[in-house]
Amino acid sequence: LRCAVMERTFREQLFFLVLCLSVPKGDSRYIQNNEISRDELYSFFNSELKRETPEQLMYRRPLRCLDMVAVEGQFTFTVEHPQLSCAAFFMSEPTEVISVDLDSVDIDCRGGDFITVFDGWVMKGEKFPSSQDHPLPLHERYVDYCDAGSPRRSARSSQNVAMVFFRVRGTGSSFTLTVRKHANPLPCNVISQSPEGTYTMVIPQQHRNCSFSIIYPVAIDISEFSLGHYNNFPKRSTPGCAESGDFVQLLGGNGIDTSKLLPITDLCVSFTGPTHMKIGCDNTVVRMVSSGKFVNRVSFSYRLLDSQEVQTIKLNNVEDFCFNN
Ligand SMILES: *[C@@H]1O[C@H](CO)[C@@H](O)[C@H](O)[C@H]1NC(C)=O
Repeated sequence: LRCAVMERTFREQLFFLVLCLSVPKGDSRYIQNNEISRDELYSFFNSELKRETPEQLMYRRPLRCLDMVAVEGQFTFTVEHPQLSCAAFFMSEPTEVISVDLDSVDIDCRGGDFITVFDGWVMKGEKFPSSQDHPLPLHERYVDYCDAGSPRRSARSSQNVAMVFFRVRGTGSSFTLTVRKHANPLPCNVISQSPEGTYTMVIPQQHRNCSFSIIYPVAIDISEFSLGHYNNFPKRSTPGCAESGDFVQLLGGNGIDTSKLLPITDLCVSFTGPTHMKIGCDNTVVRMVSSGKFVNRVSFSYRLLDSQEVQTIKLNNVEDFCFNN
C-alpha cells in the first residue's frame, strides 16, 4: 500500500488529503479498488488549471503514478522504480470528450505490464457512468494496450471523464500519452468540473438516461424543467414518478456509481413549489430518464455547501442516509 498525504489546495482548504492507491491483489488488469478520493482529484485538477499554456504549444510534462490531467498535452511516464498500480484521471468541460493516444511505448506486456484506458472513472470500485447509463457494454469501455494480437493505441471517451490504469515495472520503461479534447455538442453523462455552476441537460428524443454528477455536498436549484409536451414547473414526489416514462431524479450518496445512489426526490410534471434543496452527500446527481418520445430538458444551478450548512443538515436530519456511515 502506497500512501501520501498532501495539503488540499481546493477553494475551502477544508481537508488534508489522504492519498492511498492500493495495490491490487492478484493480477487483475482492471484495477477497480483504488482508494483515491475526490478531494485529491480536485487538488490535482486545480493546480493543473493554473498552468495555462499558449495554444500553439503542446503542453508537456511527466506523468505521475497517481495523476489528474485536465489539459491537453503530452504526458510521459518513465519508471524510476517498479510501479504496480498507477492511475491517471482525465477530465474536460462537460461539452467535450477526451481522446488518449499512446506513443513511444516501451513496456513488457508479456512480463505483466499493462496500460489500460477506461471510458469513464473508477473510484473505490465504483464506475461513472454506471453500466446502466453508459452506451457501451462494460468490456468495451476498457482499451488494453497489451491486448494479444493487436495492441490498441488510442481510445476516446463517451463523456468528459476518462482514465488510464497502468503497471510498468522495468526500470527505464516508459510511454507517452497524448491527451486531446473534442467537442461533444450533446453531452449525456457528465462529472462537474467544479462544485458550483449552472447546467442545462437536454435529451433530444432519445431513449436513454443521462446523469450530471457533482461530487460535493451542494445546494441545488432546479430553475427550468420541461418534459415532452409539458412545460411546467416540476412536480415533486417521493418515492417516484417511474410510471411516467420521462422524469428527473435527484440522487445522493457517497460513491460515484449512480445506480447505487439513493433517490432524494423524483421530479415529474405540474408542480409549483420550491425546488431548492441542500444535499449533504458526497455525490449529488441530477439524472434524467428519457423515453425517447420527447425532447426533455432540465436546468439547474448549484453551489458548494459550507461546513456550517453541512453541520446543520446533519443536526436536522438524524436519519439522513448520507451521514449514516
Ligand atoms: C433508464 O432508467 C430507467 C429507470 O432507472 C430504466 O427503467 C430504463 O431501462 C433506462 N433506460 C435505458 C435506455 O437505459
